[in-house]
Amino acid sequence: MILRTVADLRAQVAEWKAAGQVVGVVPTMGALHDGHLSLARRARRECGRVITTIFVNPKQFNNPEDLLKYPRTEENDAALLATVGVDAIFAPAVEEVYPAGFVTSVSVGGVSAPLEGALRPGHFDGVATVVTKLFGMTQADRGYFGQKDWQQLQVVRQLVRDLNLKVEIVGCETVRDPDGLAMSSRNQRLSGQARAKAPALYAAMLGAARQFRDGVPLAQVLDRARAAVLAEGFDAVEYIELVDGETMLPARDLGAPMRMLAAAWIDDVRLIDNIAV
Ligand code: PAJ
Repeated sequence: MILRTVADLRAQVAEWKAAGQVVGVVPTMGALHDGHLSLARRARRECGRVITTIFVNPKQFNNPEDLLKYPRTEENDAALLATVGVDAIFAPAVEEVYPAGFVTSVSVGGVSAPLEGALRPGHFDGVATVVTKLFGMTQADRGYFGQKDWQQLQVVRQLVRDLNLKVEIVGCETVRDPDGLAMSSRNQRLSGQARAKAPALYAAMLGAARQFRDGVPLAQVLDRARAAVLAEGFDAVEYIELVDGETMLPARDLGAPMRMLAAAWIDDVRLIDNIAV
């Protein structure tokens, strides 16, 4: 079932809730791969009813060209979701989500500021705004998000906490290709050569985490990782950093769970990844 309007979605969800079903939502921008599907499968196991949303959210693209180039493959997405057995796809038009006169923006402080937030101005405001709307539209009890976008997951958790939203956030493991590359819709844009080199980012992060645990000073570890990624054929490294996994602040308290996050360019494609340290 593909729903296009908030009214139809609301009517369907009201029926499910009246029957006492727990409703899970998996927000996506489509161009689905096994990473997205792992979220949908988990929601399928844990919720009575599952909605996958497909909406390429213009407000979170700080680069207009990136928005234009974003793959749109709804028919294929619907076929993949059918194999998982989701109950509904919510795929609204832009005007349904942002009708004329829409003026509200949700801005999460703190956790949104560094890394992706610093390099993609406005991006997390766009994410926070659309995610708040999707929770409002779907009235879901649980929301499923990937650890692949670690900082986004922390932004969503902060948002839910700060605004008292009645939704439980479930963070799901990153799904990788057998060679380690984190699955992403952007991987399709890599040339064969670049695709072969792309796992170097994850490999460098794993190596850095190992060295850090072995006692090599952090600055040296991160410098080596950046150099390794460039030597393996990436064109630029935007960042490789070690931060507190919840606050995204520089890792100071060695007792707190830490996360290494990276963003790098290869073949005009911007890849991001992260690992626990
Ligand atoms: P999108 O990039 O389509 O991703 C949808 C969800 O799938 C996100 O929660 C993302 O973290 C997760 N995901 C992507 N690749 C994954 C992988 N390899 N392993 C596990 N999970 C993966 O993220 C967005 O869309 C948007 O910002 C959205 C939250 C939908 C708001 O517009």
